[in-house]
Amino acid sequence: MTVSGVVSRQALPRPIVSRVCASSEPGILNQIRDNGWDMAVWNREMPREISEAAQVFAAGPARLLMDVRVNPEPAVCISVEEALADCQPLELRVWLGRDVQELAERFARALDCETVRIRLHRVVDKGCAAFHVDTLSARLLCTYAGAGMEWVDEPDVRRNELGLNGRSLSDANRAIVPDTSRIRELKAGAVGIFKGRLWGDGSARGLVHRSPPGCCEKHARLRLLIDPGHSQ
Ligand SMILES: [Fe+2]
Repeated sequence: MTVSGVVSRQALPRPIVSRVCASSEPGILNQIRDNGWDMAVWNREMPREISEAAQVFAAGPARLLMDVRVNPEPAVCISVEEALADCQPLELRVWLGRDVQELAERFARALDCETVRIRLHRVVDKGCAAFHVDTLSARLLCTYAGAGMEWVDEPDVRRNELGLNGRSLSDANRAIVPDTSRIRELKAGAVGIFKGRLWGDGSARGLVHRSPPGCCEKHARLRLLIDPGHSQ
């Protein structure tokens, strides 16, 4: 089965080259434990009215809406709803509360961690516009509104070119990913858990990715990040 151009684990026991697995089933996120994958993607559609409301909410002033370290089992949704006190309509606030709760629990189970760090941002800046690998073990990312994270699968990356090394941003990005048609996007609503360079046993090199370029107030995003609770 192919989902958004990514070969799923069900179709091939072990892709020879791809290091990203995807499915429309949430259980795919547990595959991140497998050394063969740099990212596991749960492809899903948000309800249309929630998606539209999230886009309106994302266009508000950029700010960090929430940054907590918690055990996700006791009602995280209450913290989310409190953090989103100015979020309208109420249906969006309730939906986000439940969704963040579910994703935090799934992340904690997939990584077997007791606590997680949850951040919810309204973002309008360019973030990390250079292709890079995160300095952490793993991260969950979901963009609820706006352009999603851009990523590149292993066959399409020149890892020895990572880093600016005195080059301009565009020159570095072109060297790291020579064929721009191979750049993929984690679409709004989709959930990705991806590895960084600090993954447990050193078996992973981490997913190469960047924030979507060209962000400005017209392209505001509402973005959820979940990291292990001990990460910086
Ligand atoms: Fe990153």
